[in-house]
Amino acid sequence: MKIIVIGATGTIGREVAKAAIAKGHDVVSASRRGEVKVDLENAASIRALFGAVSHADAVVCCAGEAAFKPFADLTDADYQLGLRSKLMGQVALARVAKDHLNDSGSITLTAGILAREPMVGSASVSLINAGLEGFTRAAALEMPRGLRINVVSPPWVTETLAKLGMDTAIGLTAARVAGAYLAAVEGTYQGVVLDPRRLG
Ligand SMILES: NC(=O)c1ccc[n+]([C@@H]2O[C@H](COP(=O)([O-])OP(=O)(O)OC[C@H]3O[C@@H](n4cnc5c(N)ncnc54)[C@H](OP(=O)(O)O)[C@@H]3O)[C@@H](O)[C@H]2O)c1
Repeated sequence: MKIIVIGATGTIGREVAKAAIAKGHDVVSASRRGEVKVDLENAASIRALFGAVSHADAVVCCAGEAAFKPFADLTDADYQLGLRSKLMGQVALARVAKDHLNDSGSITLTAGILAREPMVGSASVSLINAGLEGFTRAAALEMPRGLRINVVSPPWVTETLAKLGMDTAIGLTAARVAGAYLAAVEGTYQGVVLDPRRLG
């Protein structure tokens, strides 16, 4: 399959790209500063991506920012970042991808378990992740041409926890998390929120 991986230079995306290549897929790596350029915050750049990369079977998004900080410290700009980047960036991606992917192709987005398992500091991230889960379930009901749309909701990633100096025991490695994205692309899931902790 020809798979566009957005955020392929990131902690999760790197492992998704690696796993997809290992399974023989043709991977196009995209991000703001990657070999193929796209900025989720700019719908024109998403359209340009699909103009430059034609006949893709799948797009996987492992990108999108949101602010993680105490509720009392969250500013309007912090909330706007999550809305603009992680939420509406991925919504825009899905809207463009549905017109360009090959028939029976798939769209896989990223949310996070903070949607349903909040913690101190996650108010904005939980809002965005829950929005993405709801969006995906609903959008799946109206996908044309046999297209599928799913969202992976990762737990904390071990490598990220280590980088932040947090306890890594609660995390899952990026390689394990990547397996859920491959399952979404290669399987028959439709409108499903995939939790990597519950897959292989
Ligand atoms: N890591 C975790 O513990 C964890 C847990 C749950 C959910 N998540 C979610 O998973 C996603 C990826 O997380 P990560 O830890 O892998 O992130 P990361 O290591 O910071 O990597 C982010 C990737 O996305 C790209 N990117 C960022 N903003 C972009 C934009 N506006 N347009 C296009 N590409 C963009 C970056 O490349 P450029 O800079 O070149 O654009 C990079 O390749 C995020 O949405 C995060 O909220 C992460």
